[in-house]
Amino acid sequence: TILILDFGSQYSHLITRRLRECHVYAEMLPCTQKISELSWKPKGVILSGSPYSVYADDAPHVDPAVFDLGVPILGICYGLQEIAWTHNNRAGVTASSEREYGHATIHVHEQENPLFAGIDNFQVWMSHGDKLSALPNGFSIAASTDNSPYAAISNVEQQIWGIQFHPEVSHTTKGTQLLENFAVKICGASTNWNMKNFIGTEIERIRQLVGPHAEVIGAVSGGVDSTVAAKLLNEAIGDRFHAILVDNGVMRLNEVETVHKTLTAGLGINLTVVDASEEFLNNLKDVSDPEKKRKIIGNTFIRVFEREAAKITPKAGDEIEFLLQGTLYPDVIESISFKGPSQTIKTHHNVGGLLDDMKLKLIEPLRELFKDEVRELGELMGIPHDLVWRHPFPGPGIAIRILGPVSPPQIEIARKADYIFIEEIRKAGLYDKISQAFACLLPVKSVGVMGDQRTYEQVIALRAIETKDFMTADWFEFDYQFLKTVSRRIVNEVRGVARVVYDVTSKPPATVEWE
Ligand code: XMP
Repeated sequence: TILILDFGSQYSHLITRRLRECHVYAEMLPCTQKISELSWKPKGVILSGSPYSVYADDAPHVDPAVFDLGVPILGICYGLQEIAWTHNNRAGVTASSEREYGHATIHVHEQENPLFAGIDNFQVWMSHGDKLSALPNGFSIAASTDNSPYAAISNVEQQIWGIQFHPEVSHTTKGTQLLENFAVKICGASTNWNMKNFIGTEIERIRQLVGPHAEVIGAVSGGVDSTVAAKLLNEAIGDRFHAILVDNGVMRLNEVETVHKTLTAGLGINLTVVDASEEFLNNLKDVSDPEKKRKIIGNTFIRVFEREAAKITPKAGDEIEFLLQGTLYPDVIESISFKGPSQTIKTHHNVGGLLDDMKLKLIEPLRELFKDEVRELGELMGIPHDLVWRHPFPGPGIAIRILGPVSPPQIEIARKADYIFIEEIRKAGLYDKISQAFACLLPVKSVGVMGDQRTYEQVIALRAIETKDFMTADWFEFDYQFLKTVSRRIVNEVRGVARVVYDVTSKPPATVEWE
């Protein structure tokens, strides 16, 4: 394992990401981590970048014991400056007259330096306001750029490397190779991190953790995360895992039935489906405000789940002791990354008061994984392709895709229109190219004509987007023929719709959902 000590750079988590791509397991901890309190010994340590200046009074500093671990150390950006600062008697780092931000070309001076094995004169990404003004004792210049004479320094004897650029961002063309050189060639980290190995070790870990007489409950939604987590639990402890699917009345057409069938008949998961749609719809009655809808659905979910969980009877001699959560690594990173002196730990969103009331412990089998790793794991565990690659679907479901109050007739219209849209997307072979697509029912009426009849019905807005991270998104460019087909089908087949429009707004300024 490689230890990454995070000083709060926005890029820190990418270091983990890149090492995973090289099949090296890495764990990130805040830079304030005391080395004596680590329960494992890392093969090497990476010090991340940071928004701070090492010479500032409130700057974070690493536990000096890091340098006594006797393992290789790589400092990136602030990490380099931290190394220089600690090795130069608190000197040798100064503010640049200009921030260096953007591309630069690296000239490697030490061809034999293992950090640069097989890579030479490549493009790097710079983002720093401070720079090294002197070389620390015992170090040599391994590489430079036109603006940064100390772009890379090393002390091979002490096994310390420092680089001013960011190998973890994709703009650094050979950054992954450089990180691999450090982790594998220099630290000797093993390259056995892959999802095949993960299945075996995780199932064993769950068995050890749960023991022979404890049982586990968890909510499933039909999304990839909860399904993969449930499948792992099922493989580890069989029917001592109880999955609960709450039908909130605002899932998509046929969704509850499909998920039920896939999870039970397909995957052998011990599942209880609870139809609470009436309760949800009663609570949602006459509510138009999007945030209120979200809150009502969230609170109702907790109540229903708690009630149903209490009804589950464990086997004789067993006790329900754990609650399954589908937490992924990005959530964990969010809660452990270094946020400066006012460090606030984000409390994980979990199933409400359940933990307190039932005294349940959390079990989080996916907390080491990124989303694409969860998908790979899902495929390896035999979860159907369609489910593994399903577009994300919000917890409040189509309640936030029906603008205005949610009622059974509105739900029916929204569901049918959405179903047709997705069916046509699949038929056209576009589903996997689109990040998310859905139909929205607008609370306005428009005039139309069908046959000889004047109609006065509602409007469906179609939304389809392409995005990497859902923080920004572009609308998807369908061809007109496709839109014509979808529009015709919706108006012909869905009673209550007179007009179909396509949303051509990016995020920002719009959001993905309409509410
Ligand atoms: P927005 O609309 O914020 O959506 O641009 C970004 C992504 O988040 C999803 N989303 C939600 N997911 N509960 C969820 O579980 C919610 O309340 C919620 N609101 C938005 C949205 O579907 C998109 O994938």
